[in-house]
Amino acid sequence: MKITHAELTHFRSYEACELAPCEGVNVLLGDNGQGKTNVLEALYLCCTGRSHRTRQDRDLIRWGADFASVRLEAERRDGSHEVEVTLPALGRRRIRIAGQEASRSGELLGHVTGVLFSPEDLRTVKDGPAERRRFVDMALSQLRPAYYYALQRYNRALKQRNETLKVIAAQPAFMATLDAWDEQLAAAGAELMAHRRAYIEKLCAVAAETHQGIADGRERLEIRYLPSVTMGDDVQANLEALFGARETDLKRLTTSVGAHRDDVQILVEGRDVRAFGSQGQQRTAALSMRLSELDVMRGELGEWPMLMLDDVMSELDPGRRRQLVSHLQGIQTFITCTDADDLAGAEVGRAWKVENGELREA
Ligand SMILES: Nc1ncnc2c1ncn2[C@@H]1O[C@H](COP(=O)(O)OP(=O)(O)OP(=O)(O)O)[C@@H](O)[C@H]1O
Ligand SMILES: [Mg+2]
Repeated sequence: MKITHAELTHFRSYEACELAPCEGVNVLLGDNGQGKTNVLEALYLCCTGRSHRTRQDRDLIRWGADFASVRLEAERRDGSHEVEVTLPALGRRRIRIAGQEASRSGELLGHVTGVLFSPEDLRTVKDGPAERRRFVDMALSQLRPAYYYALQRYNRALKQRNETLKVIAAQPAFMATLDAWDEQLAAAGAELMAHRRAYIEKLCAVAAETHQGIADGRERLEIRYLPSVTMGDDVQANLEALFGARETDLKRLTTSVGAHRDDVQILVEGRDVRAFGSQGQQRTAALSMRLSELDVMRGELGEWPMLMLDDVMSELDPGRRRQLVSHLQGIQTFITCTDADDLAGAEVGRAWKVENGELREA
């Protein structure tokens, strides 16, 4: 998959900007705060429907403007794709696919596919389970619209169940309404779990090898699914877990078990890298996770997604940098950096100088 054209309008620091990337390595070079990451964020938005930095659409709208939009054209094996996301300051976001208004937000997914590796990824390894669920959710949503919709159903049912718990605390007569939410939550939860288990198994299988390459064969990486519901991935197991947690949940007024409490364990040499890994090991593990995501996507899609590397070169030692660059063959890549020396011999196809929210081809 290759992006052939990108257009940002009132997106973050950009008034209006257009770029025609090459099929190989594209470099965005500029000082801090000039707008390099903003470009990757715009591309990522078209892949996942989300920003990697904010949950608020309005943060993405240029200050003082009343909307932001990003339009991308891409070539895939099956032909040309065009997507456009418009974020108005007021009202709902709009998505157009090949110029046609989409009725559901999930229709955006699967047209432009990409993997982003950014400094925030260290949080996937270091922070709490929510970050790792986000990793899996974003990766799976791009691959399977069914997952994205199941996640929406799950989150809606979870919110309703939590609200119902509060209602019951005041009016116990409403107890019976909990059954309905348990059923919906269990159904969507079981779907999420089955997808997560299968995906994490695939990820783990490729990550072991990817990681050995990057860590010079010195370390063994494992990724394991730690589901919140341990009795099984099916609807019945989820229902029983919810029912079993009811008493506690009614006291705490929140749902204590289910897919929203899943975790993913990342082990280096058999030890949890979150607790025992050095800073460098954690960083390498985070990079391996992303490159593995890229590999799994290629396996599923039958072609490489594009790769975005935000500010990563400067954080890797020269050996790991070279390993990373050797991975880029045949993959459309976007690299941001402040110093061209950080590119470690990558064959640059096109480069832009980013200054004050403007791009100039270099
Ligand atoms: N909604 C917005 N409207 C206008 N400008 C914005 C908006 N959001 C962020 N900015 C500006 O964008 C700039 C940050 O851009 P970006 O994060 O892309 O920088 P960068 O080139 O990646 O920098 P670094 O090298 O430090 O990572 C900041 O100067 C900020 O003021
Ligand atoms: Mg940046």
